[in-house]
Amino acid sequence: MPDFNESKLTDEVIASFQATADPRLKYLMTELVRSLHDYVRRTDLTFEEWTQAIDVLTRTGQTCTPTRQEFILLSDVLGVSMLVDAINHREREGSTETTVLGPFYVGEHKPLPSGADISEGIDGEPLFVSCRLTDLSGAPLQGARVDVWHADDDGFYDSQKSDYATSGPSLRARFAPDAEGRVFFRTILPCSYPIPTDGPVGDLIRASGRHPMRPAHIHFLVDAPGFDPLITHVFIDGDEYLHSDVVFGVKPELIARVERRTDGVMPDGKPIDRPWHLMTYDFRLRPGSKDAPRPMMAAAE
Ligand code: BEZ
Ligand code: FE
Repeated sequence: MPDFNESKLTDEVIASFQATADPRLKYLMTELVRSLHDYVRRTDLTFEEWTQAIDVLTRTGQTCTPTRQEFILLSDVLGVSMLVDAINHREREGSTETTVLGPFYVGEHKPLPSGADISEGIDGEPLFVSCRLTDLSGAPLQGARVDVWHADDDGFYDSQKSDYATSGPSLRARFAPDAEGRVFFRTILPCSYPIPTDGPVGDLIRASGRHPMRPAHIHFLVDAPGFDPLITHVFIDGDEYLHSDVVFGVKPELIARVERRTDGVMPDGKPIDRPWHLMTYDFRLRPGSKDAPRPMMAAAE
């Protein structure tokens, strides 16, 4: 019978993954065990705390549904989503900054023609969004598509509403840019909103004395053949939560100045009889890149 001690236990668990055929999986499991064991030793974790952690993870899984992803939310509020995004976009080469996808992307969006109003039947201050999609040299992207989605005036996404299955999408759509790479659409001005707080992630946020708010933004997912997909948001300048986003997703380059306008004609020549807002933002995509080489070997002790 081998002697037992804390560090031998760690070595033994790591050794149990020795025969893992996939070298990357072997590396990931080795590092995970090493970090987890270090955490338990460093914090002197009690049985009570360990049980509580298991309970949080259990409730996180139980809170997930086909339209709610509490594990992504947990990753978001711990900054892990932004860290994974950051290490995978170290070589930006001048392309637009990325940020989290978030839990409210519900897959393929309904295609609408440029200029469409994605806020039909929804109250709010009118917003005209005008974008241009180019490569790094400023040439328009060919064959691109842009998915957009955002929250309503009360801070809710369509997929969070109980009648979502029957009422269909709102404040979300897919657009195709014209030959100049331009896309424009009408919507309402989004507001800052809280992430869902009725689950275990909400409990954690409250226990930590953190606020649950995200600054107002519109999500964009741009895809074009031959280019790296771009997942990002455009944030609205002046929002009080820009410096304390609960998911750490704000980057200065992604903040757009939104102009309040009172002229009676929108940029596409259509009349409007009340004040409105104009958001202009240009997106630059970089050519498709191969995955960077990943470490396969655990660092020597
Ligand atoms: C969102 O912007 O939709 C979002 C992102 C991360 C967590 C919760 C919401
Ligand atoms: Fe959002």
